[in-house]
Amino acid sequence: MSQREQWSSKLGFILAAAGSAIGLGAIWKFPYTAGQNGGGAFFLIFILFTLLLGLPLLLAEFSIGRTAQSNAVDSYKKIAPGTKWHWVGILGMVTSFILLSFYSVIGGWIVAYLFKAVTGEMNGLSSEQYGELFGATISNPGLSILVQFIFILMTILVVAKGVQDGIERASKIMMPALFVLFIILVIRAVTLDGAMEGITFLLQPDFSKVTSQTILEAMGQSFFTLSVGVSVMVTYSSYLPKDQSLPRSAGSIVAMNLFIVLLAGLAVFPAVFAFGLEPGAGPVLLFNVLPTIFNQLPFGMLFFIAFLVLFLFAALTSAFSMLEIIVSAISKGEPAQRKKWSWIVGLAIFVFGIPSALSYGVLADVIIFGKTIFDLADFTVSNVLLPIGSLLIAIFIPLKMKKTALYEELKRGSSLKRGLFETWYFLIRFVAPILIIAVMLDVLGII
Ligand code: PHE
Repeated sequence: MSQREQWSSKLGFILAAAGSAIGLGAIWKFPYTAGQNGGGAFFLIFILFTLLLGLPLLLAEFSIGRTAQSNAVDSYKKIAPGTKWHWVGILGMVTSFILLSFYSVIGGWIVAYLFKAVTGEMNGLSSEQYGELFGATISNPGLSILVQFIFILMTILVVAKGVQDGIERASKIMMPALFVLFIILVIRAVTLDGAMEGITFLLQPDFSKVTSQTILEAMGQSFFTLSVGVSVMVTYSSYLPKDQSLPRSAGSIVAMNLFIVLLAGLAVFPAVFAFGLEPGAGPVLLFNVLPTIFNQLPFGMLFFIAFLVLFLFAALTSAFSMLEIIVSAISKGEPAQRKKWSWIVGLAIFVFGIPSALSYGVLADVIIFGKTIFDLADFTVSNVLLPIGSLLIAIFIPLKMKKTALYEELKRGSSLKRGLFETWYFLIRFVAPILIIAVMLDVLGII
């Protein structure tokens, strides 16, 4: 058997895992979900869930992956042989499949905007005109499918090449660049006339707006942004050398992610209020707001193009992880198999995602459970499948892994204090399952 691939450096793993985490979740989904859920209170609850559930679960997935050193399905088989626990990995594969099917629609929107910005079609319009241009773009069936295809194609090409060559290299430049551009964007947004209202909206909690739905969405958002509950992080950490500190990696990924979420909020909401846009506009929010802010900067369109390139990159590094978990579980590290399955699975996801792409146009009137096809896919993944996957992982850890072995694994390469470990274990064993179940029962109206 060939030797298992490994990340070529510690930094490589952090960047890839952070690349999986940081993506549309923080930049696109957070602003629109916060906007629909009243702003500040949602943000606060999201932060609490990230610290109480997201971070511990991220660490849980890391410890499963590095203990087992295998893909999402076989990892569970190795740790709990002869049981049904590997279904958690299969659930992760299914979740990733649906996730990428609508993720690629948004990825496609970035591609479409990029084309339009480069050809100069977006120079100097008013915020209303940007809204109209965007609406026309995403309701055009041929175009939305084309750009979705381009996004998936880029994902397939990289995943087909394999872990080291594919995913790792570019992250080193693109991620820091994204941070820098975001900071410029925030500075411009918060200095707009009328920005204060947006800052207050984001940072001042108004608990009168909190419903069961808000809490569920904040929980789903925290799983979504950290890529937990899908065993993506199990897969990624399985390529990790044994001397890398898992707690430190998890901590820095969470910190970076929260920072990007904050930046996204501080870029979007001041502009939304300054330009009189609608915070509850839904998935189109970011795309309506962005060009308007860039338009207010000198050389705005150049900045906008640079931003779109980096944003596209951030979305792609997340998309890679979704396809990677499926392909690595099927191909089991065989290069030829990897190539073949990257194409088969990638194209299947594309076909499956077409209805989501069309749900802003010709299929806009198809409403299932009160939602468009796109919204239904998003809701099912974020608020049903991710919580279930996370719940199962939280149950798996104390049930099937030895506490002493977990402590050893987490202590490797770090000076993890016993007390901190016990806190983590307590959060995973008691807090995570109880909280996830309570939130779900609450939404179903059972408690
Ligand atoms: N965390 C990614 C994002 O925020 C989405 C993701 C979720 C990726 C689950 C992989 C697994 O964009």
